[in-house]
Amino acid sequence: MQVNVFDTPQAAAKSLAAEVAELIRSRAAQGRPAVLGLATGATPLPFYAELIRMHREEGLSFAHVVTFNLDEYCGLPREHRESYWYFMHHNLFDHIDIKPENVNLPSGTLNADEIPAHCAAYEQKIKDHGCIDIQILGIGRTGHIGFNEPGSDDTTITRQVHLDDLTRSDAAPAFGGKDNVPASAITMGVATIMGARRVALMAWGAKKAPIVKKAVEGPVTADVAASYLQKHPNAAFYLDKAAAAELA
Ligand code: F6R
Repeated sequence: MQVNVFDTPQAAAKSLAAEVAELIRSRAAQGRPAVLGLATGATPLPFYAELIRMHREEGLSFAHVVTFNLDEYCGLPREHRESYWYFMHHNLFDHIDIKPENVNLPSGTLNADEIPAHCAAYEQKIKDHGCIDIQILGIGRTGHIGFNEPGSDDTTITRQVHLDDLTRSDAAPAFGGKDNVPASAITMGVATIMGARRVALMAWGAKKAPIVKKAVEGPVTADVAASYLQKHPNAAFYLDKAAAAELA
């Protein structure tokens, strides 16, 4: 696994965005879409800001880009401020020329009995696009990628999951209290993520340093879903110095 350490999150995000821009441009030149797997949360914000800057200042076009987001909270309508639909539009899609029909996120407003078929269709739609060219990830303090909480092994695909207590505590400030954080979400599985041609995980700050160490240097285990990336043929971590501080 590649581990790239940068002085700042901005420098790391800029390097990753340049790689993604190159992919988008080379695919567009071939008349083929680039398929991006995207993440939400605080971590990818500088990466999205850099993509928007490249769109505005360098003419980077997303007209041939297809996106699949990792996850969505169950029970949140699109217009909810904490929905990942809202997040992605507010922080990226509303500022670039992506076609609305090329944007894919799991739905947050399904009845329980509709969820399995929705998850199967989401997984199939990714396959119909060949595969994800590059999957962007953050990492939770439980070691989750997407919402693959401890116990998620590398056979898991898109499905409904219960959120770990620590994950709900971390989300509590945004929701005005832990009781308001949804109890479950729909997430791509570890196998879905491992199916991407390239995987790029970003992590910033000292709070992430212990779990980054486990993911990079610990055993490959379902207790830390991100540890499976050690087995991916083309995975890279993009870290700032603080997040990399505990690595040997
Ligand atoms: C987001 C996601 C999560 C986050 C992780 C880190 O779509 O799937 O795995 O990447 O919880 O969140 P932040 O970046 O807010 O620390």
